[in-house]
Amino acid sequence: MNNAKDLPVRQTNAVRALVPPGPRGHPILGVMPEFNRDTLGFIERLQDYGDVVRARFFYVSAYFLYDPDDIEYILSTNAKNFVKAMSLRSNFFSRLLGNGLLTSEGEFWRRQRRLAQPAFHRQRISAYGEVMVEFTERMTATWRAGETRDIHPDMMRLTLEIVARTLFNADVSGDADRVGRVLSEIVKPFASQATLKWILDNRLPTPAHNRFHRSVRQIDEIVYRIIAERRASGRDEGDLLSMMLQAQDEDGSQMTDAQLRDEVMTLFLAGHETTALTLSWSWYLLGLNPAAEQKFHAEVDEVLAGRKPTFADLPNLKYTEKIAKESMRLYPPAFGVGREAIADCEIGGFHIPAKAQVFAFQWVTQRDPRYFAKPEKFDPDRWTEEFVSRLPKYAYFPFGGGPRACIGNTFAMMEIVLVLAAIGQNFRLALAPDHKVELMPAMSLRPKDGIRVLVERR
Ligand code: HEM
Repeated sequence: MNNAKDLPVRQTNAVRALVPPGPRGHPILGVMPEFNRDTLGFIERLQDYGDVVRARFFYVSAYFLYDPDDIEYILSTNAKNFVKAMSLRSNFFSRLLGNGLLTSEGEFWRRQRRLAQPAFHRQRISAYGEVMVEFTERMTATWRAGETRDIHPDMMRLTLEIVARTLFNADVSGDADRVGRVLSEIVKPFASQATLKWILDNRLPTPAHNRFHRSVRQIDEIVYRIIAERRASGRDEGDLLSMMLQAQDEDGSQMTDAQLRDEVMTLFLAGHETTALTLSWSWYLLGLNPAAEQKFHAEVDEVLAGRKPTFADLPNLKYTEKIAKESMRLYPPAFGVGREAIADCEIGGFHIPAKAQVFAFQWVTQRDPRYFAKPEKFDPDRWTEEFVSRLPKYAYFPFGGGPRACIGNTFAMMEIVLVLAAIGQNFRLALAPDHKVELMPAMSLRPKDGIRVLVERR
């Protein structure tokens, strides 16, 4: 990055416009090399230029927003002027997720959201509490006191099993496992792929691409078969698939098989890694903060008194919920959101042209000292009602916001709190002293070499 800051430039074209300041970067690649070398450090340092910053990635102009009001503007108040960023329209996402909720736009998205929404209402998902705890206990039954484990793959497997079961129910659990396995295989190489390739939407027929397309075909076969069998049986399994199959729009129309396939794939992908990451980072932060860990143990002991946690316990597991919130503040699984402007607009007094890529980063804003005292400190107790009422709405946005906010946020919070409680009532996870935990910002914010813990029985 240039040391000298580039000052805002006043243009004199038809729209009198102020161009936000920002680094010049490499003459051809722009800031791409620096972004790829040190993504998190780069997006933090950009804020030194101000609350609206412009930088060039090769031939693409990107704008970075650090003021919660501006973030609210793109995600919520002026959401109609934005579509998802071009990185989400890459080959990878469109082949895998098709026209699912995460990637679709306009009237098509609106209708799908309307159809899927009831499946995520609090009363509907309350039934999944039991599945969440049952799978957690099945996993911990294989743990041995005194052993060292990498907790991250454990959490990944667990949340995958939970989303598979809640989507497809038991009758097809073998297939669901296969979909999950193929899916995690195909995501691996693409997840670590440099952002340059995403942005340029690499369409070259490399072996990795061919493998990817083969794997997606395999998953398609399974998912289409499950849908066909479920349609033929006409049974209501009480799972997300049944709910989406039955969902009807006002005109009586329902989702086609292709739409169902795209939504199933989207929920599989969007619904498991993010939740696993919040769990893994929570264990890490509890391991680093013995006082918080003690409060957590005291709460689960008092509320549960040795019983399994259930959906009904959620209102009483307040401190556990604050752990999840604080963990998503410090280590947001989705560490940034991106949009593309449809028409020219103005943000924070700066001109944003049509087609501009606009980004906001949970990673930076949720650690901004203007909104969070001692931002680096893991302090679940900061989440008092009073604090929340004073906090600008978009200073904390782990689930995004506005019309495209995460549809699974209640599901995820319930899963995180129940899994933490079910494990914490029986186990203490101490961080392995010889293991350094490092961050890897890929599609999501991952621990590079996992999180090794020593399992102790409580
Ligand atoms: C801690 C866990 C989770 C986090 C941090 C998270 C985060 C997010 C974020 C930030 C977005 C908005 C992206 C954007 O605006 O561009 C989003 C959207 C979405 N999430 Fe989640 N998510 C989580 C769990 C889940 C779960 C459990 C599911 C489903 C079972 C899910 C399904 C979706 C879907 C379908 C969308 C797209 C919604 C739409 O555009 O209409 N997520 N998520």
